[in-house]
Amino acid sequence: MKRALISGASSGLGEAFTKALVKEGYDCVVFARRGDRLKALQDECHDIRNHSVEFFELDALRSDAVDILEAKIKENSWTFDLVINNAGFGYVGDFETMDETVMHDMITLNCTFLTMSTHRLIPYMNPHATFLNVSSLAGEMSGPGMNVYYATKNYVSAFSLACDIEFKSLGLRSLAFIPGPVHTEFGRVAKAGPMKVFNHVPSMDVDLAIKRAIKGLQKKQRFILSQPSHRVLLWLVKGLPRVWVAKAVAKLQSKR
Ligand SMILES: NC(=O)c1ccc[n+]([C@@H]2O[C@H](COP(=O)([O-])OP(=O)(O)OC[C@H]3O[C@@H](n4cnc5c(N)ncnc54)[C@H](OP(=O)(O)O)[C@@H]3O)[C@@H](O)[C@H]2O)c1
Repeated sequence: MKRALISGASSGLGEAFTKALVKEGYDCVVFARRGDRLKALQDECHDIRNHSVEFFELDALRSDAVDILEAKIKENSWTFDLVINNAGFGYVGDFETMDETVMHDMITLNCTFLTMSTHRLIPYMNPHATFLNVSSLAGEMSGPGMNVYYATKNYVSAFSLACDIEFKSLGLRSLAFIPGPVHTEFGRVAKAGPMKVFNHVPSMDVDLAIKRAIKGLQKKQRFILSQPSHRVLLWLVKGLPRVWVAKAVAKLQSKR
C-alpha cells in the first residue's frame, strides 16, 4: 500500500487531492488547523475505502511545526511515497499598506514551512518517492497588487525544480503543480473580491484540476499544469519582457 502526506487538506485542492488519492489506492495522512473538516474528510474517505485517511491538527505557522510533524511521523512509524506540499494562502492588496503579520505568515507558510518540512521529511521517504509542491501560475511572473503571494510562488517553483535535480542521487523526485485559478476557499481567504483577472483567466473546477495533477504526477512531469491551454500563456510570459508581463498583471489584479 502506498502512503501520501498532504498538508492543507481541510478544504480546496488538498481535500480534493486526498479523495482522489484514496481512490487511486493510497493511504493518506493529512493535516491542517481545522480538525472538524479533517474528520469529515476522513469519514467521507472511509466510505470509499476503510481506514484510508489519518489526520492530525497542526498550525504550520507555529515555530515548532516541523518538530511536531516529525514527532507524529515517528510515533506512527510512517514512511511516504508521496508528499503534497499544498498548504498555502495569498493576500490581495498594495504592498505599501499590507499588514506585516499577514505578509510574514504568507512567507512562513508558503515558503519556510514548505522548505523545512521537505528537508525534515527526506529520511521518511520511500525509494522512488515524490514531493509534489503546489505552486501557481503566479510563480512564473511578478505580481503587483498581490506582490508577496506571487513572490512566494516564484520561490516554490524555483525550489521545486532545484530539488528535483538535487534529489536524483537520492532516488526521489520533486515536481511542481502549477494551477491557474481554481474554485476553492483561496479567493475568500485572499480577500480577492471582484478582480479583472477572473474575467480573463476563469476559475476551474477543483476536481478537474486534481485529475490533471494526478495524471501529471503519474507521468512524472516536472511542471504540471491544471489547464493545457496555460502552456500558451506561459510561453508568452517567458517570451515577453518580464516588466511588460508585470504591468499586465498589475492591470488584471486591479478591481473591475
Ligand atoms: N485556488 C486557486 O486558485 C489556486 C491557484 C494556484 C495555486 N493555489 C495554491 O493551492 C494551495 C491550496 O490552496 P486552495 O486553493 O486549496 O485554498 P484553500 O481552500 O484556502 O485551502 C488552503 C489549505 O491550507 C490550509 N492552511 C492554511 N493555513 C494553514 C496553517 N497555518 N497551517 C496548516 N494548514 C494551513 C487550510 O487549512 P486550515 O485553514 O484548516 O488550516 C486549507 O486546508 C495553496 O498553496 C495555494 O497557493 C491555489
